[in-house]
Amino acid sequence: MSIETNETFRPKIVAFCCNWCSYAGADLAGSSRLVYPADVKIIRVPCSCRVNPMFILRAFEKGADGVILCGCHPGDCHYSTGNYYARRRMTLLFSMLDFIGVENGRTRVEWVSAAEGVKFSQTMNEFVEKIYSLGKNVRLEDLRCRKN
Ligand code: FES
Repeated sequence: MSIETNETFRPKIVAFCCNWCSYAGADLAGSSRLVYPADVKIIRVPCSCRVNPMFILRAFEKGADGVILCGCHPGDCHYSTGNYYARRRMTLLFSMLDFIGVENGRTRVEWVSAAEGVKFSQTMNEFVEKIYSLGKNVRLEDLRCRKN
């Protein structure tokens, strides 16, 4: 899959990945030589429930154009129920973000197991494509964080 890139816009995308499944899925995608855009910056967390909503707000404040949270499939969380908490928390946060103007497409939760390198790669490609279509995120960005 190739993504049409606009030279003037390279999205900044933050992917929070739980250590036990999604990060291993990303690793598998890499070792299987599956391609996904370098615009995705992965942050490894112990579990999807470790992601405090403030981390996501902070990412947008720092200039992220999209944030995706990846964790183990429901029922497979290493800490048994972490991903259920994460799912509820993110549902509330994403609806609040949508309300204040950060479009729903800029945020996503996806379950990716350690054996799903293909799914990881496809998810990231789809998400990056979506962010390209939405363009730069202008909400919540703290201009003091901008480097140029
Ligand atoms: Fe993966 Fe909890 S350990 S979501």
